[in-house]
Amino acid sequence: MTTKPTKIYLKDYQAPNFSVTTVNLDIKLFDDHATVDSVINMQKQSEGDLILLGRDLQLIQLEINGQIFNEENYQLDKEQLVIKKLADGAPLPNELTVKTQVKIVPQKNTSLEGLYIAGEGDDVMFTTQCEAEGFRKITFYPDRPDVLAEFTTRVEADKKFPTLLSNGHLIEQGELANNRHFAVWHDPAKKPSYLFACVFADLSVMQDKYTTIEGREVLLEIYAKEKDIEKCHVAMQALKDSMKWDEDNYGRAYDLDRFMIVAVSQFNMGAMENKGLNIFNTACVLSTPEKTTDPRTSSVKGIIAHEYFHNWTGNRITCRDWFQLCLKEGLTVFRDQSFSADHQSSAVQRIEDVDILRSAQFSEDAGALAHPVRPESFVEINNFYTPTVYEKGAEICRMMANMMGKEKYRQGTDEYFRRYDGQAVTVEDWLSALSSVDKRTADFIKWYRQPATPTVTATSDFDNESKTLTLNLSQHSRHVAGYDKPIALPIPVATAIFDKTSGEILLEKTLMLTDFEQTFTFENLATEQAPVLSLLRDFSAPVNLEFNQSAEELAFLLEHETNGFNRWQATQTLVNQVLKNGDKHYKEVYLKAVQKAVHQLAKTDPMLATRLLDIPSERDLSLLVKGDYDPQAIKAKREQLKTDLAKFMANDWLNLYQNLPMQAYEDTPQAKGVRALRNTVLAMLLKTTANTPNFTESCKLAVSQYDNASCMTERLGALGAMVNRENEITDEIDFNLVAEKLEDFYQRFADEPLVIDMWVAVQANADCTSLDEIQALIEHKEFDWGTPNRIRSVIGGLANSPVKLWSEQGLDIYLGVVAKLDHANPTLASRLLQPLARWDTLVPELKTIAQAKLTDLEKEVSSKNVLESLGGILGEK
Ligand code: PHE
Ligand code: ZN
Repeated sequence: MTTKPTKIYLKDYQAPNFSVTTVNLDIKLFDDHATVDSVINMQKQSEGDLILLGRDLQLIQLEINGQIFNEENYQLDKEQLVIKKLADGAPLPNELTVKTQVKIVPQKNTSLEGLYIAGEGDDVMFTTQCEAEGFRKITFYPDRPDVLAEFTTRVEADKKFPTLLSNGHLIEQGELANNRHFAVWHDPAKKPSYLFACVFADLSVMQDKYTTIEGREVLLEIYAKEKDIEKCHVAMQALKDSMKWDEDNYGRAYDLDRFMIVAVSQFNMGAMENKGLNIFNTACVLSTPEKTTDPRTSSVKGIIAHEYFHNWTGNRITCRDWFQLCLKEGLTVFRDQSFSADHQSSAVQRIEDVDILRSAQFSEDAGALAHPVRPESFVEINNFYTPTVYEKGAEICRMMANMMGKEKYRQGTDEYFRRYDGQAVTVEDWLSALSSVDKRTADFIKWYRQPATPTVTATSDFDNESKTLTLNLSQHSRHVAGYDKPIALPIPVATAIFDKTSGEILLEKTLMLTDFEQTFTFENLATEQAPVLSLLRDFSAPVNLEFNQSAEELAFLLEHETNGFNRWQATQTLVNQVLKNGDKHYKEVYLKAVQKAVHQLAKTDPMLATRLLDIPSERDLSLLVKGDYDPQAIKAKREQLKTDLAKFMANDWLNLYQNLPMQAYEDTPQAKGVRALRNTVLAMLLKTTANTPNFTESCKLAVSQYDNASCMTERLGALGAMVNRENEITDEIDFNLVAEKLEDFYQRFADEPLVIDMWVAVQANADCTSLDEIQALIEHKEFDWGTPNRIRSVIGGLANSPVKLWSEQGLDIYLGVVAKLDHANPTLASRLLQPLARWDTLVPELKTIAQAKLTDLEKEVSSKNVLESLGGILGEK
């Protein structure tokens, strides 16, 4: 019998009846199980039952205030232990000491949540993941973020696990009989249980030190497998940079004497901010030039910063309930994006962040899984670690920060920390701190509550007599079923007005669109002819902008805008016009303007030059389609434009390539830009020369870049360019060459799982890879159902190719993986469904297939994670 899983509502929030002062845990790991003894000191806050949450636990002993409880004295079901009175029948007193002993089986826990097993054989380790509701899989506890307590944790295991860690400071360790040992950790900071962590492993450590601005000497440690320790330098430096950055920019210093990071290969997300003991997916912490690409290395730094910044935004000030997830995630993403922008060109950083926002979040907002940044209900909180909560949440913080200006924003965040340090709070609390400095921020609560991406439509008119420019702005949001009718949001539209003749800026201003429609006038503009407008500069709000600009105006902006983001946006708007309307004139203007800009920037800002060559992915382009979405048609149009660009610049590629010589590896924005541009140019070169006599020459360049690469970015770039050729290239010799290089790559990095992930991904993402070949990658001996990174490397390639995905076989493969993971790792299984949420926009034939397959899957699965997502996708609200 299946009961419908319960939905939880924000409006039903109730404070807990009991708070916790201190917790003592004693976790003993044995060969085939573990025991957890806990002593929880609690205080009554209001009348009512004592509720301890617990899942998959075997209760061995329960004692409260010295009284032994047996089955008649409590109610226990799959989710919780409810205690109404003491064992002797007396009402629950104000002070409780709850002692429990439970047995758990981490050896069989594949969910990567709770205390779980990672790795195998000699590499086996046990680690925890408690956010959001994993702590209840370790012991009975009021596992909710508004219960904060001081933890002392004893961890005990066989000496084959020399590394015994938990939060805070090491206060005691020692040897025991039977080749066992223990360590006791004390965390003085009060924290919710989702920030608890412990580790049993055999790891090496890289150590360093940091002295905070307050004079505290902090021991910094990164734990990883011995052979990976040399790959921890980037992360260590990023950690120190983050600590300094938070002091300089937010006035926040670290508060413990020790900060540890542990690298683990099996992890569902990027990393986790457990107090003083961050746990990281190896892919997000390890980095060396030879084995890691530049974009990965940048994300390692960004994620290190993100988790470190959580110490203040998330840990010291935490969430009252899980509906407030964006309180910590949105703000922390905004903080890590700002950190990253300070370490490379801020324009390129903004382009990257917006690119992710638009492809992941705008599509979510446009589909069946749309939800507000602060959701109002959920069945399974793990389904709400979404681009909307994270990325759109960050955009809201950014809008307010920009509107307030640097100084006021700092006053606002200072006030937030002053008021709420040590507490579990809400989005309203965050806004109330900011609005004590700037009242206008209070209005931004609307952004947290309303789903869907607003569209801002702009029209403008210039009166040459009076030199007056009139700009009309209006906003519209889709009405998402189940939510109130959309209201007008406060939308900052950063605007610049350019003189057409000189290319100079006449006026710069951020306009606030707070109504559905508003008109702005600019009088006495010192210009001879209609000026050129640049709107939504630096992507000042997370909206779709509809503004009909001529091809010439867009080319003008590409040339004259001082905001690098809007230069890039001009190319993207041109591309979208071409792809949407097949407009020949826009295409001609686009090709010429991009060619010119790339030449200008190739030396001075090669990363921006690379980005100007961006053509949105097939997946992103599906968002532009209003009616019947035909993946094949989109792919064909996109290919055509790419070929046109490759051909238009046919005489440039070789030249550009030769002017970007390979150099010894350096981790600087300039060197990264050169590598990125060289890789893009090489791919274009192979494309233009395909099926021409020059092809052999281009292949030689690719092979030489591969063979002589000084770093992974160069090597993988060359490999990718070779593997990625389109189907039309059928030359046997070249096929052999590609196969040879793929094999070489595999052999070279056979014992580096993170590089094998790339090897898998480069094949899974290649256009010419067939669905049979993708299936073969799943059956390959390197495939591993226990390692999300590996699963994503394959399945991500399929998701990136809508033509392959939206087919009988494609869906069978994709949904087969989801079904297989439903039981073993429901969190991951459910997340994999995100790219399927817009199936209902497909052309009828495909829509029918998709609906049938999704409906079939629904009968096969049982986790509430997958059921909630599928229900949403299928419109069963
Ligand atoms: N809180 C983590 C972060 O964003 C993400 C995470 C969520 C990790 C849930 C694991 C499980 O930093
Ligand atoms: Zn986070």
